[in-house]
Amino acid sequence: MQNNDSVHVEVRQSLHGNWSSRLAFIMAVTGSAVGLGNIWKFPYMAGQNGGGAFVLVYLLFVFLIGMPVMMSEILIGRRGRRNPVATMKLLGEEEGNSQQWKWIGVMGVTAGILILSYYSVIAGWTLTYIPKAFLGQFVGTNAVSISNLFDEFVSNPVAVILAHTIFMGINYFIIASGVKGLERAVKFLMPALLMLLFVLLFYSLTSGSFMQGVLFMFTPDFDALNWDGVLTAMGLACFTLSIGMGAIMAYGAYLPQETSITNATVSVVIADTGIAMLAGLVIFPLVFANDLNPGEGPDLVFKTLPLVFGQMQAGTFLSTIFFVLLSFAALTSALGLMEPAVAWMVESTKFNRKQSAAIIASMIWFFGLGTALSFNTLSDFIFLKGTIYENVDFLTSNVMLPLGAVFTTIFAAWIMSKNSTSEELDGHGLVYKIWRFLAKFFAPIAILIIFLQAIGWI
Ligand code: PHE
Repeated sequence: MQNNDSVHVEVRQSLHGNWSSRLAFIMAVTGSAVGLGNIWKFPYMAGQNGGGAFVLVYLLFVFLIGMPVMMSEILIGRRGRRNPVATMKLLGEEEGNSQQWKWIGVMGVTAGILILSYYSVIAGWTLTYIPKAFLGQFVGTNAVSISNLFDEFVSNPVAVILAHTIFMGINYFIIASGVKGLERAVKFLMPALLMLLFVLLFYSLTSGSFMQGVLFMFTPDFDALNWDGVLTAMGLACFTLSIGMGAIMAYGAYLPQETSITNATVSVVIADTGIAMLAGLVIFPLVFANDLNPGEGPDLVFKTLPLVFGQMQAGTFLSTIFFVLLSFAALTSALGLMEPAVAWMVESTKFNRKQSAAIIASMIWFFGLGTALSFNTLSDFIFLKGTIYENVDFLTSNVMLPLGAVFTTIFAAWIMSKNSTSEELDGHGLVYKIWRFLAKFFAPIAILIIFLQAIGWI
């Protein structure tokens, strides 16, 4: 113990308890990171932005920006041990700066609520694909009938809203009862999802168009990528890693003091990117083998995967399991989106965990109606970036998350003392130096330049 500050930090405890082990933390953060972003969003965005160049830029962002931001978020979270708003406020003051840093926490909590409002709608699509799969509705279909199946479903507002309601309901029950059960479920479900993706990879390997898919994903054609695409890749990198909105900060608050933040970050980033790549390697060959269009948009995955399941021997069985697992992956991410808001409400109002979860879940459900209707009744209601869904997605992923990430790294690298950060990141070694360079200069500058380019200010 070199100073009073570290004594103070040692005794600081989270109100909500701690993760039971390092593995539990890694599982929880991976559970939050791996979700619809990897399996639904990554392939459709890569497809819409021309493939290779987008994937390359995305990977660069994950490693050069995502890693240092994630380390910053975890270290801030663990040092403050409160919800993101209170942690930023507390550390702002403790590090001799301003309490106003709390607004970064507030922006994060808001982003989480907005993201979950559309995330839940897409997760609802996933849920309804479970009974469709189980009842053998994909068997013997072709590209046209699979498309129709999807289009008919999303054009029905009642069905979409119902699915969204069910997903938010499940989410509420889990969040209300704390994270212990989930910790156990994630440990089993994540490896299962990975295995199933490998089974699908085998099918896509034998689809006859595997190389075409690989080339699409890994041949960079920079003409196909404009600044908007670069911004989208950056937003997606933040989104799939769950950074820039306090989820990782909230989880870091429950991290035992002795766990290495660097090692945990590396494991999570590798798992998250690995699963996104795997999803791409499964989906793109199938797109080309079936003459589908990679730039199809948000429905890409719902049109390619059922098609191949329908042609497989044990397709009914495997597709049921797949959509169950994907729903779970969405659920573990949804919890990360909601935890900052719920933790904040529990700590700063008189509502208990159950009541807070109910209030926040209802609010998110209500906002979600905008997205649910974006695919049917309100599909012609277009402004700024497109439908309501497209606007909420743009605002959160491409504006709020990158800004949250910039301020998080600026706070960790410029405002916090070297003493505090090196204590959290185990000393002054090479890793610490690299982190500090990336967090201090590279990440904030790169994010700001891309951001300003894309909105046309420079
Ligand atoms: N990372 C999650 C996904 O890829 C989404 C998410 C974003 C979860 C932010 C929590 C916080 O699906």
